[in-house]
Amino acid sequence: MSGWQKVYDQLMIVPTILVFDSGLGGLTVYGEIAALRPQAHYFYLADDAVFPYGALPAEALVERVNGLMDHWIAVLKPDIVVIACNTASTLVLPHLRARHPHVPFVGTVPAIKPAAVQSRSHMISVLATPATVARDYTHDLIREHAAHCEVQLVGAPNLASLAERVMHGEKVNDADIFAEIALCFVERNGKRTDHIVLACTHYPLLLAHVQRLAPWPVQWVDPAPAIARRVDHVLNQTGFVQAGFAQEEAPGIGRQASGRALFTSDKVQEAVLIAALAQIGLKVGP
Ligand code: DGL
Repeated sequence: MSGWQKVYDQLMIVPTILVFDSGLGGLTVYGEIAALRPQAHYFYLADDAVFPYGALPAEALVERVNGLMDHWIAVLKPDIVVIACNTASTLVLPHLRARHPHVPFVGTVPAIKPAAVQSRSHMISVLATPATVARDYTHDLIREHAAHCEVQLVGAPNLASLAERVMHGEKVNDADIFAEIALCFVERNGKRTDHIVLACTHYPLLLAHVQRLAPWPVQWVDPAPAIARRVDHVLNQTGFVQAGFAQEEAPGIGRQASGRALFTSDKVQEAVLIAALAQIGLKVGP
């Protein structure tokens, strides 16, 4: 860290940001936030002991996330919490806001609205965990924002796990990935699906794979940049303004964000994952 950066950190009140997911998918959101707010202090919390959330019954998930957040909010005292998980956000956010009224929460919910606005064929697909596909929240979003579209809801039972395996340095088969996304591609009456909402934060980790395997080109809608802008906005509103500098001139720009990655399992993380996390500024452990 340069001398200027040290002075900047001492003069500015730097926010502590907690980004949370069941596993490594939330890193796709962390990456976008960290690019906008490189000066912040980061904690990335992965509930890998219980992954995948997509397979958990709703009550168990609410209890699990409430318990974890009660604990880690008390320990880390974050200025903002980002629930970088659709499966949790579509269910748990009201509970978290009621339990921690002084903590701002930003969630991640399926980006159905932008996909419906941008689609030309009016045929869109929502690719998510089976739990997110079943949520009332998701069905309400479709009713509110995509009534003019034909919406294909695709619950992918294994895609988040395949993304985890790639991040842990394992080889995965194209055929296994394709089996998870195939139902997203619909062709009817001379029209085709043209937008696919990546409604699980793990899926952008496989973007290069799904783009390559797609039977025809589509827009893959990743909400992470919009979530990062929302986090930045909430921080500005709560007093964490990158004051005195235009965003691109702030001394933190060009410097890499840094923080800690915490895992709820006691598993020793593989060297390949530790190296990948280090590349994006995250050290494993408290
Ligand atoms: N990353 C999570 C999401 O956005 C879910 C993955 C899981 O099943 O745990 O929905």
